[in-house]
Amino acid sequence: MEKIKIGDEVFIPFITEEKIQERVKELGQTLSQDYKGKVPVFIGILNGSFLFMSDLIKNFEGDCEIDFLKLSSYGDEKISSGRVKMLKELNCEVDGRDLIIVEDIVDSGLSIKFMEDLIAEHHPSSMKVISLLVKPNSLKYNVKIDYIGFDIPSKFVIGYGLDYAQKYRNLRSIYVLSEEK
Ligand code: IMP
Ligand code: MG
Repeated sequence: MEKIKIGDEVFIPFITEEKIQERVKELGQTLSQDYKGKVPVFIGILNGSFLFMSDLIKNFEGDCEIDFLKLSSYGDEKISSGRVKMLKELNCEVDGRDLIIVEDIVDSGLSIKFMEDLIAEHHPSSMKVISLLVKPNSLKYNVKIDYIGFDIPSKFVIGYGLDYAQKYRNLRSIYVLSEEK
């Protein structure tokens, strides 16, 4: 795997495609066990979670449904704006359903907090959160992430759905911003 130069910034390989796929498979198997006999609704948070969501449900055995919510907090920057905007609402009925919120990455926890408060108003039967990545040292809100792919340091990462100014989501591996210039 090669480094990626973006302007005067350098991103270095961090989590390989193989490692991601292996972990997503394990998470899919765990969810298959935990939701045996139920028909959960996976709710992906766009845009970042689209690849993770797709690989995750391919590893889920049993019936399930999917829907997407679109939130935005980062604009085109590397730090969160601190505000969350809802850009697309849910289309499915969530009353009485078992929901699995699918995130790409949890940083401050603001997006998840916003989502949980919003969805709780609709009285689902249960609601759990799965995130491929979590930056534990960046958490500022009291949120519980029920299933975690990888805990990572508080550094900016791109690839496998994660963007920098909307680009690089199509990278198969995850890269981290390096200190070097
Ligand atoms: P939070 O609301 O502060 O937890 O931020 C969560 C959202 O910010 C994620 O869903 C991502 O869309 C974005 N985000 C946080 N950290 C990164 C990163 O390192 N790279 C790309 N996007 C990120
Ligand atoms: Mg996101």
